[in-house]
Amino acid sequence: MKITEHVTWVGIQQPNTHFLHGFHTRRGTSYNSYLIQGEKNVLIDTVHPNYSQQFIDNLKSHISLDTLDYIIIQHGELDHSGALGELMRLIPETPVYCTEECFHTLKGLYHKQFNFKKVHTGDSIDLGTMTLEFLEMKMLHWPDNMASYLSGDHVLFSNDVFGQHMTSEHFFAENESDALHEAEKYYANTFTPFSRMMASKLKHIRENDYIIDCICPGHGLIWRQPEVILQAYDRWCHHTSEDLIVIFYDTLWNGTLQMARHIRDGIHADSPETSVMMVDLKAHDASELMHLVFKSKGFLLGSPTINNGYTSHVAAFLNTLKGLRFKKKLAATFGCYGWSGEATLQMKEELKLSGFKVMESTLSCIWHPNDDKIYQAQQFGIAFSKKITSG
Ligand code: FEO
Repeated sequence: MKITEHVTWVGIQQPNTHFLHGFHTRRGTSYNSYLIQGEKNVLIDTVHPNYSQQFIDNLKSHISLDTLDYIIIQHGELDHSGALGELMRLIPETPVYCTEECFHTLKGLYHKQFNFKKVHTGDSIDLGTMTLEFLEMKMLHWPDNMASYLSGDHVLFSNDVFGQHMTSEHFFAENESDALHEAEKYYANTFTPFSRMMASKLKHIRENDYIIDCICPGHGLIWRQPEVILQAYDRWCHHTSEDLIVIFYDTLWNGTLQMARHIRDGIHADSPETSVMMVDLKAHDASELMHLVFKSKGFLLGSPTINNGYTSHVAAFLNTLKGLRFKKKLAATFGCYGWSGEATLQMKEELKLSGFKVMESTLSCIWHPNDDKIYQAQQFGIAFSKKITSG
């Protein structure tokens, strides 16, 4: 697929891949590799190892492999470097450009001494009428990431940054709302812990006045209106949120669900314009759940008590939350119980450890809510809503 005058997409689309290294990819994904052809020929990244042969066969239909001058590996994770071993078996002398950290990643994965060329931010290779300049993207999202900028065609190859897990026969993010939705989910699940570094890197890109006509990420669709995704990243890395409160719950005999509904009524009564989503933890995958946390101003988490603790669905939710280090979110806990009722306090402590601002008061209910408890649940919702409003 031709992207610009000198750049061709030579990756693999996998619409039926629904799980990739911890991410639920309901709309599939693609492993994007790009071929630059001109006075010099350059390959940017490869694909998942499962598709090495298909990738190389396709690459051969575009270029004779022995005319490839340079291979650029922007990130060592196997969904981008996975075909490198097979490729280097065929063209072992071709130089492989990567960061110092990526050199160690590739050595660790392949145990081979390829013809490595280590690069830093500002280094470039001369392609005749164009240059390819490198930009380290440390911790976005691995220590070894980098991006590459092609002058002439004005293309930024960004690897995981600006990516989305989705496929389309059109290749370009023309339906911006779809692509932005998936890009935001990708950001929430991948880059949230590194948002400060992302902000600084975006500033660097702005201040260096790169002319960018096209952003080619390592997954998903290509951005031909770069400002759309650049401005979205500007917002996301500053932890902006929507006017949204999410009530996440698990329930065994619907007692905790009933409480969730009354809490929702309380929020509605206090702030009718706020969107409130009721989300059954069992009905959504972890990537969707984290996306909702990312978008929200705050959330409530409900669990019945079972075997002196919260349910396994809540445990999985809390475990995933912990690693993502969300900022500026208020949380609160509630739940039903039969005789011991530890879940609400345990969830509260876990959320505090994960860095959330947590309401001190919790809401517990023995058996199912009676009129008094229904009133308390509504008041709990009102108090949560007011706390969100007051910041
Ligand atoms: Fe798409 Fe960090 O791999």
